[in-house]
Amino acid sequence: MSGILAGKKGLIVGVANNRSIAYGIAKACKVQGADLAFTFLNESLEKRVRPIAEEFGAKERVYELDVGKEEHFNALFNAIKKDLGGLDFIVHSVAFAPKDALEGEFIQTSKQAFNTAMEISVYSLIELSRTMLPLLNPNAAILTLTYLGSVKYVTNYNVMGVAKAALESSVRYLAYDLGKQG
Ligand SMILES: NC(=O)c1ccc[n+]([C@@H]2O[C@H](COP(=O)([O-])OP(=O)(O)OC[C@H]3O[C@@H](n4cnc5c(N)ncnc54)[C@H](O)[C@@H]3O)[C@@H](O)[C@H]2O)c1
Repeated sequence: MSGILAGKKGLIVGVANNRSIAYGIAKACKVQGADLAFTFLNESLEKRVRPIAEEFGAKERVYELDVGKEEHFNALFNAIKKDLGGLDFIVHSVAFAPKDALEGEFIQTSKQAFNTAMEISVYSLIELSRTMLPLLNPNAAILTLTYLGSVKYVTNYNVMGVAKAALESSVRYLAYDLGKQG
């Protein structure tokens, strides 16, 4: 396989179906020759993600990851270590906030919705980066996805805008820590 990602191994976190942005990213990476692995959130999404992994030649590399569950990170680390040995890139394409926090007034955001949005959409990047760090090959890359609602008011984006601002800031702090290691 030729292409700018030939011989590179990538973990794609955040495919729910073939309309997910992560699906498009995976497709572009595959075209460029990458070997991929995928995660799915839960049993109902597993049914959709497995055929997608098969489409990308990654049938044997599909793992469960609910980023709210610490034990899933450890299991993922062990599985990736065993099956792939190392990683050249990770795509973090994960976000969630309770539906009622994504409508109406931002001032009504509950503490629970705020914490959930931050945990699933922001802390997950930190935990994923830290867990996978020992498996990252030299010059590896970690990618995450943000939106304009982090820096500007966007109707109904609400707590997700705050989460994206925190995500962007997390990228800068992670870059400082991880840049030193290449
Ligand atoms: N759709 C857009 O217009 C848009 C614009 C800018 C940025 N983004 C960002 O792109 C990323 C992907 O969004 P998308 O539009 O492809 O939607 P999507 O619903 O296809 O992807 C979101 C993914 O997050 C996963 N997820 C949610 N909770 C999880 C958890 N607890 N553990 C593990 N995974 C969990 C879902 O399973 C899903 O695969 C998100 O970060 C989103 O904020 C989307």
